[in-house]
Amino acid sequence: MKEMKAVIFDLDGVITDTAEYHYLAWKQLGEELGIPFDRTFNEQLKGVSRMESLEKILAYGNKTNAYTVEEKEQFATKKNELYKQLIQKITPNDLLPGIEKFMQEVKEKGMKIGLASASKNAFTVIEKLEVGHYFDTIVDAATVKHSKPDPEVFLKAADQLGVPYESCVGVEDAQAGVEAIKRAGMFAVGVGNADQLAQADLVVSSTNELKFVDLFRAFTEK
Ligand code: BG6
Ligand code: MG
Repeated sequence: MKEMKAVIFDLDGVITDTAEYHYLAWKQLGEELGIPFDRTFNEQLKGVSRMESLEKILAYGNKTNAYTVEEKEQFATKKNELYKQLIQKITPNDLLPGIEKFMQEVKEKGMKIGLASASKNAFTVIEKLEVGHYFDTIVDAATVKHSKPDPEVFLKAADQLGVPYESCVGVEDAQAGVEAIKRAGMFAVGVGNADQLAQADLVVSSTNELKFVDLFRAFTEK
């Protein structure tokens, strides 16, 4: 029988609501470029790297070939400057409801904890939230070649934890993230809308609903 040994968390939108800040920063840039978009389109950006997000926005506005590489880099930098301003004010009060309690439970049950983030700002956010001590390993965008939905970031976290992939649970709020977990051969927990995260093995509507007993049961029954 498979044994659960580790839980690997996404950061933005799972540990804290930085998914909203990414959205606000991209939305502002999109408007400046004459490409307005809404939350439905934004679902496609969640979990996706900075440059790939920009490419998706440009494609959405039929502007794939409208700019030079240098201009695109400037746009991505501009978005990141906006985002960095927004994350300045993060404090431990910005942890999503119930997430710290869940991490404590996971730890008490003897599981390893990892972080698998597509963000180059992951360490700053973790530091501001003061939750670094929960993680046995942290893998961020700076150390992986392929971004979600590629499974690399989750595989690397599991390797660093020394846990077989099938003994890992991944927790994600993004479609691209859930796909990455499944491609890694792990059990996927989606946090959010069940229709949008249909590929996940277990979906909870919010971090408050994450309970170790429920997760353990779903993992064991699968
Ligand atoms: C992911 C977010 O965690 O990080 C994406 O879900 C974001 O929305 C990506 O684009 C990259 O983040 P950053 O901070 O490196 O621009
Ligand atoms: Mg996320």
